[in-house]
Amino acid sequence: MVQIKDLLPAEAASAGAPFNGPHMDNSADWTSGYVVEVDYTHGYYRELSPVLIDFTLLVAGFEPPARGSGRYLELGMGQGLSANIHAAAVEGECVGVDFNPSHAANAMQLAQASGSGARFFDDSFAQFAGRDMGEFDYITLHGVWSWVSEENRDVLVDIIRHKVKVGGAVYISYNSLPGWASAMPLRHLLTLHGKLGRAGADGIVSSIDHAIEFGRKVAEVGARYYAATPGAKDRLDAIADQNRRYLAHEYFNLDWLPMYFSEINQRLSSAKLHFTASANLLDHVPGINTTAEQSALLAGVAHPVLRETVRDYILNQQFRKDLFTRGARRLADLDRQERLNDALVALTTPAADIAFDITAGLGALTLKQDIYGPLIESLSARDYAPKRLGDLAEDPSLKRIGGASLLEAVTVLVGAGHAHPAQPGAAVEKATPACARLNEHLVRRARVSEDVGFLASPVIGGGLQVSRFEQLFLLSRLGGADKPEQWAQFAWDVLQRQNQVLIKDGKPLAAPQDNLDELTRQATALEQRRLPLLRALRVA
Ligand SMILES: C[S@@+](CC[C@H](N)C(=O)[O-])C[C@H]1O[C@@H](n2cnc3c(N)ncnc32)[C@H](O)[C@@H]1O
Repeated sequence: MVQIKDLLPAEAASAGAPFNGPHMDNSADWTSGYVVEVDYTHGYYRELSPVLIDFTLLVAGFEPPARGSGRYLELGMGQGLSANIHAAAVEGECVGVDFNPSHAANAMQLAQASGSGARFFDDSFAQFAGRDMGEFDYITLHGVWSWVSEENRDVLVDIIRHKVKVGGAVYISYNSLPGWASAMPLRHLLTLHGKLGRAGADGIVSSIDHAIEFGRKVAEVGARYYAATPGAKDRLDAIADQNRRYLAHEYFNLDWLPMYFSEINQRLSSAKLHFTASANLLDHVPGINTTAEQSALLAGVAHPVLRETVRDYILNQQFRKDLFTRGARRLADLDRQERLNDALVALTTPAADIAFDITAGLGALTLKQDIYGPLIESLSARDYAPKRLGDLAEDPSLKRIGGASLLEAVTVLVGAGHAHPAQPGAAVEKATPACARLNEHLVRRARVSEDVGFLASPVIGGGLQVSRFEQLFLLSRLGGADKPEQWAQFAWDVLQRQNQVLIKDGKPLAAPQDNLDELTRQATALEQRRLPLLRALRVA
């Protein structure tokens, strides 16, 4: 693993991250106890893409929203990377709300760069509920529900009730039970230490460090909680390695409440929503999630809410990503089949880099070479151009697989992040200029920051992971350089000007030539392995 090391003194190195001057005062009254001392990470979540939501609903056998004007609302959009990528890459009108003005300002800057017209508000949910914004085809909230107060959850339901169109879809993720049950006391201990034992801590990051250290001390003296809770100590160790900005928001909020699926379902039913599908496509393939015995038990549970709950018990699920619709309409089999035949899909991982090992409910699994080998080959044909599922089914090398198994294999590839549904050509053309502007902004930003690890693809209507170095190589390429050696030199100049060096295998690379060699190796890999795909997806 190669990272960046700052050679500046610690104080100078922290400029720009992770503490933000204006938010040092955690007592500001707009926060409702929500962590604002550190800004949230610049994450991208592809399940929020209307293109992926539509595909998932189709796979589950439900009618996706009639796009119409394609209005999209993200509640608590954080830094707004997902919202901005979707605003640039998918036709329609995008609105986002997040009461942290730093988050809203960042989101606005991205919207200005892409020219997508996306609008962002630094309103609280309660303020936003009072705005007359019309109705939306898609409302998404990722990483929000479990981390706000009961009062705010009521406001969220109210917003959804009044602002989702009939036939519209809602994506919601949340910490779920019973998966979280055993670790709840650990979270309690850490946050209580953050509140009552933070003497000597300088800011929230240091307070988190102290709390983790304290949690370890409690384990070391033989606390029976750890002995009685298999996995609790491992979780604490895993937490110790996680991004502090993520931890601040995940664990150290005043409000934090995992819920059972049935509770979420009940709350959203009051907004006339109907649970339609898990937003995680891998969940739609029973053979990789539950044993034959478990599947038979689930098949015998008639009530969908009880069935979904039993599934959570079987998998001990900690985090759910669900799709609800206002007015669920089941598609007739033939209708579903015809629409899936017309769906386009594209690889998002270079064919040679697709790992055949995936993790699903049943644990680690290996994909069957005789199905996935030819499928990946067909998907990479014609320079990775998106393929119609109906045409794939007719492909001589895939015909023997059969339609249902082929759809299942495509679902697995998309679910595992190696493929993505693609947009029709006209939509791709429309979205290309805004994506190009957003991507240019992001690759320029990569000169001074490694915050954003994604770029927008108009082809898939979503984002693609692109590392900081790859972004710097693409920036050099935008400037006209066409050789990996030139891209590497450019990236090295950028790093050198900021007194940064690469870290390889845990050690800083001291000699300039070692840095340059490593960057050249990576630039060559980009050119040989990834660039054809990035070109096909119009990211490069
Ligand atoms: C855990 S973050 C998730 C951000 C983003 N959805 C993501 O996944 O990257 C939750 C976000 O909700 C925002 N938030 C929390 N309470 C809020 C409220 N009452 N009104 C508006 N935004 C709120 C926070 O500022 C934060 O950006």
